[in-house]
Amino acid sequence: MPKVLVVHGPNLNLLGIREPGVYGSTTLDEINKMLREEAVRLGLEIETFQSNIEGEMVEAIHGALGTADVIILNPAGYTHTSVVLRDAIQAVRLPTIEVHLSNIYAREEFREKSITARACVGTISGFQAKSYILALQAAKYLIEQKPE
Ligand code: DQA
Repeated sequence: MPKVLVVHGPNLNLLGIREPGVYGSTTLDEINKMLREEAVRLGLEIETFQSNIEGEMVEAIHGALGTADVIILNPAGYTHTSVVLRDAIQAVRLPTIEVHLSNIYAREEFREKSITARACVGTISGFQAKSYILALQAAKYLIEQKPE
């Protein structure tokens, strides 16, 4: 069964209490549960991972090499700062989908720039928890496009 690795970045462990007006009131556990249910429906295996530490996110991305077909990544604040995460995505050369709960283009100016997005196939931003479900559907699409 094709496998998708979902990597959640810093502060996303506080979803539910963290700025619900911006990020919604769904907790990370609830998002992961929604993802697992959608994965069953789509016939995908899924693994989820969250860290507040950049290096641990790098390790998780490296760990996808040879074990996952697609990565879904919410780099959170590292979106706007991390050459390291962008290099990690480029290094493993796995199709990666960037996800944001909020619309990063409709907020502060410093959020408009994503360093990581250029290494990704595409970005889904602004649909709160649903962004992840849309990303999983996009992952399924990418897997279906892939030649055997
Ligand atoms: C975020 C957007 C980032 O700008 C912010 O730093 C986050 C969450 C989002 O999912 O909307 O932590 O990635």
